[in-house]
Amino acid sequence: MNNLKSQSYKIDRTDFEKRNQHRGFVLWFVGLSGSGKSTLANGLQAKLFENGFNAVVLDGDNTRLGINKDLGFSEKDRIENIRRVAEISKLFVETGHIVINAFISPFESNRIQARNIISDTDFIEVYIESSVSACEKRDVKGLYKKARTGEINDFTGISSPFEAPIKPDIVVKTDEQTPDESIDYLFEQLKSKL
Ligand code: ADX
Repeated sequence: MNNLKSQSYKIDRTDFEKRNQHRGFVLWFVGLSGSGKSTLANGLQAKLFENGFNAVVLDGDNTRLGINKDLGFSEKDRIENIRRVAEISKLFVETGHIVINAFISPFESNRIQARNIISDTDFIEVYIESSVSACEKRDVKGLYKKARTGEINDFTGISSPFEAPIKPDIVVKTDEQTPDESIDYLFEQLKSKL
């Protein structure tokens, strides 16, 4: 027995959503390193902001520099990374925010765990689809090169698995679109969910 009891608050989710004039939910971007997750999260947040929506972005590079700095890239640590982010996201949703998560999130069972933590109705899985070869060609951070030479271990797509989403709610093919086209497409897809 841990003697914990969930607290309830005077202002609840419905109050926040009413004032925000939109609902809260999580857009979970799944994709390889360099697929465009952070760029699209950034652009979509700006587009939502311009249209009066409150969106917060959580991003692997940033959270791994802070709250998740004790975690590495083993399967166990990646699972814990996603679990913590799912719990944080849930807190934001409860205060009526749209949460845009940009994490590789390479494991299907872990994504199901995140969906269960957040709730099925509030979890929208977005596959930011790009081939390993296209990501490697771009190699924005130079990490694919390091993964090939063995300077980095357990690198997703090279020396660590990536399980593509089985039934994503939205797919964005970044090999075939400019970032602006992808952002417009995402915004259009979201309109019915806001
Ligand atoms: S996840 O697999 O646990 O979801 P997350 O999205 O948080 O990963 O972090 C991925 C980011 O960490 C990449 O964009 C990249 O900048 C950096 N990174 C450093 N080492 C690795 C690695 N071995 N595999 C993947 N990404 C890595």
